[in-house]
Amino acid sequence: MEKRELLYEGKAKQLFETTEPDVLWVTYKNQATAGNGAKKEMIAGKGQLNNQITSLLFEKLKEKGIPSHFIKQLSETDQAIEKVAMFDLEVVVRNVAAGSFSKRLGVEEGIDLPFPVLEFYLKDDDLNDPIINDDHVLALELATTEEINELKEKTLKINDALIDLFKQVNIRLVDFKLEFGKTKEGTIVLADEISPDTCRLWDLNTNDRLDKDIFRQDLGDIIPLYQEVLDRLTQL
Ligand code: ADP
Ligand code: TMP
Repeated sequence: MEKRELLYEGKAKQLFETTEPDVLWVTYKNQATAGNGAKKEMIAGKGQLNNQITSLLFEKLKEKGIPSHFIKQLSETDQAIEKVAMFDLEVVVRNVAAGSFSKRLGVEEGIDLPFPVLEFYLKDDDLNDPIINDDHVLALELATTEEINELKEKTLKINDALIDLFKQVNIRLVDFKLEFGKTKEGTIVLADEISPDTCRLWDLNTNDRLDKDIFRQDLGDIIPLYQEVLDRLTQL
């Protein structure tokens, strides 16, 4: 398989066509953004860490019976993935109050939620990815009722699997964002990435942040933290 023309350049990744019609080549970039691109920096080593963490997590999820678009890791920064038709949705799961949930609803950060709280966001940078409800998803024809149910069911299963994986390496999975797509056969699969860019990961004992909040809030260098996450997950 060979890399062909650039199909899409996003904030964190580049997608290339390949010689295989249903396979994309994704390159994880060093660019870090926050606030929908308002804050932007190049951080050497971020791309390879997120690629390795995502590859490892997609492998582990597969072992737990959860398929994804992931085919294989091609290099430190690159993956082969199955090309899918993405839902224009971000699915966020919250196990612990933090971030926009705490801010919007006035709930103290760090409080365990009584059940995993699932939220949909419209993937639209021009609108700043607004939060939307099931009716909005239906009215905008972003997914059908059956698809919404399947997305929720899959997301909760992924949450259980990820909580378990992170717990084994002493990490509290506070919240995270998932994206899904549809294969050409019509199967809904997990896509995009799962990394400290897209999850809130706190040390189980100290609640120290091991994720992109450190960049978002200008609290220091994220590279040692992402490396720590990778090193811990590698022990699994
Ligand atoms: P953004 O688009 O938000 O800037 P990225 O830089 O991570 O984010 O870009 C990656 C893009 O690739 C995202 O828009 C994501 O929805 C899309 N994508 C992820 N997985 C797949 C896939 N398997 N097939 C097609 N597109 C994908
Ligand atoms: P939030 O508290 O800012 O809404 O974020 C919830 C989770 O979703 C957090 O783990 C970060 C992740 N996330 C993304 O991956 N991409 C995004 O664009 C946003 C807003 C959040």
